[in-house]
Order: sequence, then structure tokens, then C-alpha cells
Amino acid sequence: MSKPMNRRKFLDFLGKGTLGMALMPPLMSSPFGSTIPGQNNFSLQGIRPCAEDDLRLADGFQYDLLIRWGDPISNSDRFGYNNDYTAFIPDDPSNPHSGFLWVNHEYVDPKFVSQYDGKKKKTKEQVKTEMYNVGGSILRVKKDDNDQWMVDTNAEGNRRLHALTEIPFNWHEPIAGSKTAIGTLANCSGGITPWGTILTCEENYDSFWGERNFETGDVEYAGRGLGWQEYYEHPPEHYGWVVEVDLKTGKAQKHVALGRCAHECATVKELPDGRIVVYTGDDANNECIYKFISSKPGSLSEGTLYVANLRDGRWESLDYEKQPILQENFKSQTEVLIRLRESSKLVGGSRLDRPEDIEIDPVTGAVFISLTNNKPKGNFHGSILKLEEENGRYDSLKFKPGTFLAGGKDTGFSCPDNMAFDGAGNLWFTSDISGRAMNQGEYATFKNNGLFVVPRRGTQAGSVLQVGSAPNDAEFTGLSFATDGKTLFMSVQHPGETSSSLSNLTSRWPEGGNSIPRPAVVCISGSGLEGLQAL
Ligand code: FEO
Ligand code: CA
Ligand code: CA
Repeated sequence: MSKPMNRRKFLDFLGKGTLGMALMPPLMSSPFGSTIPGQNNFSLQGIRPCAEDDLRLADGFQYDLLIRWGDPISNSDRFGYNNDYTAFIPDDPSNPHSGFLWVNHEYVDPKFVSQYDGKKKKTKEQVKTEMYNVGGSILRVKKDDNDQWMVDTNAEGNRRLHALTEIPFNWHEPIAGSKTAIGTLANCSGGITPWGTILTCEENYDSFWGERNFETGDVEYAGRGLGWQEYYEHPPEHYGWVVEVDLKTGKAQKHVALGRCAHECATVKELPDGRIVVYTGDDANNECIYKFISSKPGSLSEGTLYVANLRDGRWESLDYEKQPILQENFKSQTEVLIRLRESSKLVGGSRLDRPEDIEIDPVTGAVFISLTNNKPKGNFHGSILKLEEENGRYDSLKFKPGTFLAGGKDTGFSCPDNMAFDGAGNLWFTSDISGRAMNQGEYATFKNNGLFVVPRRGTQAGSVLQVGSAPNDAEFTGLSFATDGKTLFMSVQHPGETSSSLSNLTSRWPEGGNSIPRPAVVCISGSGLEGLQAL
């Protein structure tokens, strides 16, 4: 993709250029390594877990709705369903209050999206409606005269990508016989490239077009899947990729070199020589974490993919030419990348507890990974894993793993998922207790899903504070900060997901009354957000 902006400038106006400059001497121990004294005595009063059908925030925080499922974004397009990852890309360093907001749309709930009641065969129109509601939205956003963010529906550039959008592969060979795929779907979390495009990750692709059994070659669906295959035929190999989108043009490409799995996210670092490192996790029980290191500056297609071996603290190469065991089991590098789950175990990849989001600590450079849970193994509450690359080099092939925080009653959170560091190095994260498990058994004390912060400095440094509680059945996802750190964009995904029908709803958020629930993006602001960053 083109690089419309000098990379250093881009990072600077994201506010990342001066981090680490204001560090004070350590005082005492915290999960961050050492506690840094605050520059004032600001502190937050967290909230208790809550089971109300409402979006509750701690004192010092407020939110405004930015956009909801079904809202028009232009004369021809509407906002999709189940919004997840968000990424704010400002237009210009001199005006951080205007830019693009990318939003993922992960999956559909047919009872809401196509009013499919499960009683007879879904019509083609219903399938097309569902296909339109996944993918992503490119939004032009700005602050209005009242200092509130709004979607500028009259601006050029608002558009949708969805399950009917044609997208080429960035690879030298066809994938399942084609150089292009139809559609992007299962778009969970993502990342931002140094040249200002976004990466959107196709996670649970098998729930749309199934998965091919490697032994038999048959495509298998969980149940009947969504039934899209009754009207359309697309190979499963066309999904499960990291997709790059240029927000200015809407052009997209699927990056085969980053491998194919249930990608949760793709977190990018640029090396001093311009080469690119991408961390990505495969969110399923007993699956792996990967790292791509490019061989050329600015490339997401030329380089080597590695899998994490936590036992030995080593990144194991998935290079077909260098691994005889891959040559014995697969026909080519392309097949290794398509069948990443099988190939990664052959070279020693560690089976982990559902790797979700990955973020890089802006103060120490450590790599943080949410391991949300692994119920069959008895891990109900998950943890946040920390990897320290050898000598702080992102292209190192050795690392030291450790647990940053473990979920459970002691820490007050369970099932960590999306994370974001703000410009001051405070860690924000959300929880994803599944709708059917929430408020019951092991999970009862945590109540609805939440938003949490781990302050970096001051008297609360290193403690876990709950600052938000989600509506019934919902999870918070897609945390991202505006350039000035004064707004936290956040998705509210799948409110009312466990409703048995439209006449028996578990949530009516956000409108209340007699409304059906609608996923939405909110803008969080307030003295709590700003006070923490000023510590
Ligand atoms: Fe879409 Fe793993 O969350
Ligand atoms: Ca997630
Ligand atoms: Ca999750």
C-alpha cells in the first residue's frame, strides 16, 4: 500500500514520540515492574461489578453514543452489526479533531439482522442482508461545535467493506485457485501500520464458510453454519487472513505471509531499519501466538513467520525451506501458511489459553497478550501474558515469558480480551465472559462484562480498577484513543445476545423502552480519563 505520510511524523502525531521521557525513579514493586510516583495525588474510585442492562461508568467518566447498528453513514451505506475493533487515524497533526475511524463488524445475530427465526429456510435476501452487516466501516469523524464527536455523513469517504466485497490476495500464488477473495468477515480486532493503513483480522471464519478437513478435503460446518452456502460457494481458504485497508481509498488486500488462523489481532512495530514486525494470536483453545518479521522495509508480504515456543523462550521458524518437518508434511510454503494450525505444532509452537489481543507497552516495550481462558483445561479466568524480547529487539528470536496479571477473584476480573495503552502508559482492558456463562457459577461474582484500568503511576499504580460495566450479555471491545488522549472510543458488542426471540429480550440497550438492543460505538471522556494520564 502507498505510504502517504512520513512514518516518524505519523508516530509523533499519534503521541508516541515522547513516551518514556518523563519517567521518575521507582518506588516499589507493581506488575509493571516498578511503581512510579504520581506528579499529583489524583486517584480513581472504581465501580463494583454490576448486572444492570446499562452502560455504567465510574465517577469522572461519561460517554456519548457515536453510532449504532443500522445508522446511515452515507447516502448509500449503513453501519454494520456487532462492531468490534476501532482505530482512529487523524487527518493532520494540526487538527486532531478530525479523521477516519475504522470499525470492524465481526458477526451477525440473525434474529436481529435478518429477522430469521430459524423455522424455515433462510431466503437469499436474508443471506445478503447478513453478508452486508459484517466486515468493516470507514467513517469520517470530527468534533462538532459542542466538542462532541460525530460521524460526518456528508463527507466523502464513508464506506463499507463486507462479505460481498472483492479483495485481492497479496501473494505470488493463487489461494484455492484464485488471486482474489469475495468478502471479508469475522473481523475481530486489528492494528495500525506505520504508514497509516489499518489491519483487520478475520477471526472465526469457519462459522461463515466452514473449514476444510485437511485429511478428507471436505468442507465441514458447525451445524448448518449460517446457511450462506445454500446460495453462494466460497472456499474456506479465502478467509482467516489479516486484511489491510487503506482508509482513504477503501482498497484492501489479504496478507497471506501473516498466515491463516482465527486471527484476533495484528499488532505492528517498525524496526529502526524500516522492516516490519507483526504479532498476531490465534483465538482458540490450545492455539498459538505468531510473529512475522519482514525481510524488506515496509513489507507485509516478504519475510518469515514464526510461532512462539514458550517452554524454550524461542520464536520457531515456519520457513518451508529451512524446516524439513514442514517439507515432509506440506506441499509448499503457501500450504504451510494456509494450514497454520497444523504446521505451527510441528515446529514446536506452544498451545496457549486462547490468545486474544496483543499490545506493546509504550514505556518498557514489553509485549502484552491476553489469554482469555481455557475452560476444558480448568482455566476459567485467564491472564495477561508478558513477553520481553531479548535485548528489547522486536526482531529477536528469543524472549522471556511471564504473567503480568492473572484473572480471578483476587484481581477482580475474568476473561481479559481487548487492551489499549494510553499515552501515559496506563493499561486499559475489557473482559469477555460469554453471555451464557455470565452471572453464573464460576463467573457469578464478576457480573456483567467490564472495562478495567491498571494505572501506571501514583498510589494506585499496578492495581486493577473497574471503571465500566456493560449492558446485559454485551462485551466491550475495540478500545482506541483519540490523538489527544481525551476520548476513548469503545465498541459495545452483542447486547441482548442470549435473547430467545424478539419478544423475549434480555437487553434493550441503548434506547431502552420497547426497542431491540443495538451494538454501538461510544466515546468515553471525562476527568477520570484525563486525570490518570496527567499523573
Ligand atoms: Fe473476536 Fe477472540 O474475539
Ligand atoms: Ca476479542
Ligand atoms: Ca473474546
